[in-house]
Amino acid sequence: MAEGLERPIGLRRPGPAGPWWLRALAMVDRVYGGFAIARDEFALSRLREGQWSSLVVERYEAAEGFYSGANNARGFVEDEQALVARWLPPPPGRVLVPAAGAGREVLALAAAGYQVAAFDPAAPLLAEMRDSLRRRGIDGPVALASYWDFMNAVLGSAGPGSLTDILATAPFAAVLLGLNSFTHLRTLETRVRLLKACRAICPTGPVLATFYLERIPMSRVRGRARSLFALLPGAQPVSRGDQVGIYGYEHAFSQDELREVAALSDYELAHLGAGFLPCGVFLACASPR
Ligand SMILES: C[S@@+](CC[C@H](N)C(=O)[O-])C[C@H]1O[C@@H](n2cnc3c(N)ncnc32)[C@H](O)[C@@H]1O
Repeated sequence: MAEGLERPIGLRRPGPAGPWWLRALAMVDRVYGGFAIARDEFALSRLREGQWSSLVVERYEAAEGFYSGANNARGFVEDEQALVARWLPPPPGRVLVPAAGAGREVLALAAAGYQVAAFDPAAPLLAEMRDSLRRRGIDGPVALASYWDFMNAVLGSAGPGSLTDILATAPFAAVLLGLNSFTHLRTLETRVRLLKACRAICPTGPVLATFYLERIPMSRVRGRARSLFALLPGAQPVSRGDQVGIYGYEHAFSQDELREVAALSDYELAHLGAGFLPCGVFLACASPR
């Protein structure tokens, strides 16, 4: 895609060969596109981490139809399958799946012989996961909980709350962060805190994750909107890779960022597969610094 363009031109800029009405519609589309960019950039500059988190969960709750049924039946996609086969310790170790949604990874792991435990903050997805596990006779604690509940329960002063049964089964052999959920964490501090919580309940095992790596191109309109909104009082910091996708806030990582978050959490990024589904592995450093 040409530098500075947000999407392929298509009918966005018809020349004299196009009839007048097509040129008029294209003009409306460009104005609308500019507003949509300004809306996203304004939201990035104003909304705080907790607000983004609630919005993201709300979007997933609304997408329940997509995540149950066929999505669950799909099991691991090819890149995930390769990741799991190479980096998970052999079954029957217990694997924790945070952000498990309707249970796609949990069902696939159980079918491969692993013991499982899982949580997710989207109530309709969790209900679907509970049903699916029960129907297949799979035993393993599941809970309605977010990453914040998990981090506070493991690292903070909050009690285990809904995570009591799950935490009672620690230590885990590995952690598999639910598909792309790491991407929705708004700040470096939270990403580091999450990995530290994983380390606390899985001291020697790997943390497997999937990421967005592809950044929305920085068009002129987007760049200007970002600089302008940053000047407003109370603006939230917005960095490269921060963007708004169909589920709300997402961060598209560079390899350096992933290495940084790993180092700050006493992990090393042992693998980064930048295929169709970018996946990575955080391995615990031998002795915490
Ligand atoms: C792309 S879906 C993946 C669902 C499931 N793992 C799968 O692959 O089918 C991302 C999941 O992340 C969960 N999620 C979003 N924000 C979260 C948060 N703050 N804490 C924990 N999970 C979160 C959503 O509820 C959703 O189920």
